[in-house]
Amino acid sequence: MKITLIHGQNHKGSTYHIARMTAEKISDNIDEFFLPRDLSDGCSGCAACLYKGREHCPHSEKVGIIFDSMLSSDVIVIGSPNYVMGMTSHLKGFFEHIFTAWIGHRPEEGLLSKIAVVVSTGAILGTKGVTKSMAKQMFYLGIPKVYKLPFEVMAASWEGVDDKKKEQIAIKIDKTACKIKAKKGNTSPGIKYKFIFLMLRSFHKKNDLALFAVDKKYWTDKKWLGNERPWKHTK
Ligand SMILES: Cc1cc2nc3c(=O)[nH]c(=O)nc-3n(C[C@H](O)[C@H](O)[C@H](O)COP(=O)(O)O)c2cc1C
Repeated sequence: MKITLIHGQNHKGSTYHIARMTAEKISDNIDEFFLPRDLSDGCSGCAACLYKGREHCPHSEKVGIIFDSMLSSDVIVIGSPNYVMGMTSHLKGFFEHIFTAWIGHRPEEGLLSKIAVVVSTGAILGTKGVTKSMAKQMFYLGIPKVYKLPFEVMAASWEGVDDKKKEQIAIKIDKTACKIKAKKGNTSPGIKYKFIFLMLRSFHKKNDLALFAVDKKYWTDKKWLGNERPWKHTK
């Protein structure tokens, strides 16, 4: 199994260790990225991705390396410390660069059979909210099965996390890795994704806005405005 492991931070604290341990429990074939090390630019707001295509983004080379890795992996593990009740700005910046692969724009069929794990650690409060917002990104990219691993570690470094907490974390990671290994190759979009897809299909059929011209062409080429569906080849 191939894993793409994306760290929403450069440093190796609690979030790094937990995300890395999770990936290693699943497979030793890991493609690893750190943000901002591997993508330091935020979205510049030029909207070239929307009007022309992702390849026209000024940061497309760096974004493309990470996104291509996601497309060729079976499992995507993404970690971020809880920073002011949200994911890190660099991880959010990465998601901004790939939002044109969202369901209503140009969804990638290859993502519709993948599994994701989203990891966050916080000192005290709000970490479930962080994994929830990371999981939302996975949903709109079409990844049908997402495991959330939020941990309040009461520390600002991995060394500061007490042993009992580390044991609980290790148990949770083991259980999650077992579920993922059992689930691999057996995931497909659920009813909510399909419902949103059909609503957006009807939107694209009725509208011809310049803003969505590239999207509409993509849907037309894929025959999604007819009877084809992006999940047709998933189980
Ligand atoms: C800029 C910043 C903002 C933070 N905001 C929160 C927060 O909103 N809630 C929380 O519980 N911890 C917060 N923390 C603490 C970290 O999320 C926590 O220590 C986390 O485990 C650090 O992960 P790391 O060891 O991977 O860096 C914040 C830390 C920093 C540096």
